[in-house]
Amino acid sequence: MSIDLSVTLCGVHLPNPTILASGILGLTHEVMVRVAEAGAGAVTTKSISLAPRDGYPNPVVLDWGPGLINAVGLSNPGVEVMVEEIRAAKERLAPLGVRLIASIFADTIYDFGPTARYVSAAGPDLIEVNISCPNLDDDYLQMFAADPYVAGQVTRRVKGNTDRPVLVKLSPNVTDIVRVAEAVVEAGADGITAVNSLGPGLILDIETGRPILAHGTGGVSGPPLRPIAVRCVRDIYRAVDVPVVGMGGVTSGRDAAEMVLVGATAVGIGSAIAYQGMKVFGEVCRELESYMERHGFERLERFRGRGG
Ligand code: FUM
Repeated sequence: MSIDLSVTLCGVHLPNPTILASGILGLTHEVMVRVAEAGAGAVTTKSISLAPRDGYPNPVVLDWGPGLINAVGLSNPGVEVMVEEIRAAKERLAPLGVRLIASIFADTIYDFGPTARYVSAAGPDLIEVNISCPNLDDDYLQMFAADPYVAGQVTRRVKGNTDRPVLVKLSPNVTDIVRVAEAVVEAGADGITAVNSLGPGLILDIETGRPILAHGTGGVSGPPLRPIAVRCVRDIYRAVDVPVVGMGGVTSGRDAAEMVLVGATAVGIGSAIAYQGMKVFGEVCRELESYMERHGFERLERFRGRGG
C-alpha cells in the first residue's frame, strides 16, 4: 500500500503533517532549514514583534521530568531582522517543499496590523497569530485569547493587513475555548492552532523556597499537556469549519494519529525536540505511516475526525 502523508492546510500543501511549533527554535534561517531537513512538513518562526524584545533573564526553561515549564518572555530580534530570516529561509525551504509559518504577536490590538503587514511582505506561506502566551508582563491585564471579543478584534486587524492565510493560536487557559474559536473564525481566521502552553504553573527550588524560573511562573508543555490539547482540538474541530493544527505534548506517531483522529489537519511538535532532538519529525512520520498501514489508511483524510 502506498501511503501519502501530505496535507493541505488553508490551501497550502505540506509534504507531511508535522510542524515545528513556534517558540522552540525558529529564530534563524539556518536552524529552520535543519528542522526541515530533519523531516518537518512546515516550520514556524519564533513569535515576531515590531520591536526587538530581550525576554526574561535565565533560567527561562526547566525540564521538570514529565514535561517542560518555560517563561522566555517572547524574546526576538524584531520584525526588521526577522523578515530577512524569513526571506532566506523561504529560499532554502522551497526546494524541499517545506512551508514557512510566521508567528506574530503584538502588545496592542492595533499593533497586530503593522506587524502582520511587515511580516507578510517577506512572503511566509501562512501567518500564525500568537494571542495566547501565558507569560505576560505585569502591565497586561490578560492575554488576548482570554476574551472571544478581543480575540476576534485581533484577528480582524491581522486579516485586514495580510494576503496570507491566517492561523490563530488559542490558549487552553480559558473556560470555553470553543467560544474563542468561533469568534476568531467569524472574524476571518482561516485556521486554528490549538493549543499554546498551559498555566502559568509554578515550580520551586524547595531548598531556597524560590521559583526556579527567573520569571517565577511559566507555561507548562510536553506530555502532561497532551490530553487537554486533544480534548481542545476535538471540541474545536466539531464546532468550526476551518482546519485545526493540533499541538501540545506530541512526541510520537501514536500521539500524531490521536490528534488526526480528533480532527487535526496538521500536528505541531515543540517540547519533544528537547527530549528527542530534531529527529523527532522523521520518527513521528514513520510511526504515523506504520499506524496507517496497519489500519489500511492511504491518506490522513481517511481517519481525520473519526475519533473522540
Ligand atoms: O514566554 C514565552 O516566550 C512564551 C510564549 C508562548 O507560549 O507563546
